[in-house]
Amino acid sequence: MRTNNIENSKGISFDVKGLKIPSRFFFAPINTGLSENGVLSEEFFEFYKERSHSSIGINYIGNVAIDPKYVTNPNTAYFTDQTSQWEKLTKLIRKRGSVPGIQIACRNSSLTPIRRMINNDVETYLNTVRKDLINIPREEIQDIINKFIDTSIKASKLGFDVIQIHAAHGYFLSQLLSKSLNIRADEYNASDLFFLKTIINGIRDKKPNLIIDLRISFLEGIKNDIQEKKDKEDLIKKLIDLDIDIISFSNGIYDVNKQLIYPLEQWGHACFLENIIEYAYKYPNILWNYAGNIWGIDILGLEELPNNLSFSLGRALIADPLFVEKSINNKTHLINRCEHKNKCHYYSLNLSHIGCPIYELNKNTID
Ligand SMILES: Cc1cc2nc3c(=O)[nH]c(=O)nc-3n(C[C@H](O)[C@H](O)[C@H](O)COP(=O)(O)O)c2cc1C
Repeated sequence: MRTNNIENSKGISFDVKGLKIPSRFFFAPINTGLSENGVLSEEFFEFYKERSHSSIGINYIGNVAIDPKYVTNPNTAYFTDQTSQWEKLTKLIRKRGSVPGIQIACRNSSLTPIRRMINNDVETYLNTVRKDLINIPREEIQDIINKFIDTSIKASKLGFDVIQIHAAHGYFLSQLLSKSLNIRADEYNASDLFFLKTIINGIRDKKPNLIIDLRISFLEGIKNDIQEKKDKEDLIKKLIDLDIDIISFSNGIYDVNKQLIYPLEQWGHACFLENIIEYAYKYPNILWNYAGNIWGIDILGLEELPNNLSFSLGRALIADPLFVEKSINNKTHLINRCEHKNKCHYYSLNLSHIGCPIYELNKNTID
């Protein structure tokens, strides 16, 4: 068994390949927009420092592009030869008590990311992506695969213990994984997962003990839910045969319907949790991760949930970096709660980086 769950008075922690992950609550990957030309700003450091504690098992640096050519927005982070800033960051996260994780991403599309929450011309999106995927030369896919391997190895050398491969939200790898989008018939088809095997084996060759996490969109929002669940059942059967330590569920495609990525408040607490539970029970050797609308740890019903299930929190921790800390120490009344004003969706608001009025209002009270 690769993953052990350790239960003590502070809740569940994990031992994955000998690495201790101190809590089952993680900080979800967030593309902050707080870097410029690959240089991380002071605010970038502050953002991740505030959200690193022993109550946060893994702190994921969100959306680090494999190459400046494949960034999501002009202020997305990527590695340059200024490696010392990344070493400083991983040391900081570790010193504060969390495991440093990094999400490695590639956006490759002829389409400019849409700013609206919902795309009112999904057909055009689907046709464009299918065409883009058919037309991309094999050599370019091989190059992207190599860049995923190289960036992961570099990240490990810079102190990251967990690499999350971004294969969700319509990013390039999620397009390749998608039966709705990838109609290629060569080795890069959607069924064989050759690209993913090559990436994972490439990382494993050099870094056998690195923790590999794969983030997928369980519901993409293209077909109906029943068909998408069936597609994912097939996909997961194949994924568990790859050497992946953590499988993380998100939902949605950025350019189709962003509400699936950041669920609406009225969809309810932990609204997609049901989808992951059966897999966590079925495959106990994998650590599973759920994200989406977690607004109270006390109402998750943890005692009824499998012990190999972890949780990533996004907006709750953006609004209050001590959300988990306060929750597990019976200080829920002190939590500064996200009010769903959507100010963190900076790209949709035509802004260059993240902001949160709740955090801004209360930040002086955080030590
Ligand atoms: C401002 C913002 C930026 C995000 N950036 C990323 C990202 O770079 N990569 C990613 O996989 N998810 C990203 N997400 C999605 C979160 O990781 C998370 O899955 C989502 O917000 C749902 O969790 P929540 O309901 O706890 O906020 C982002 C979310 C927000 C609000």
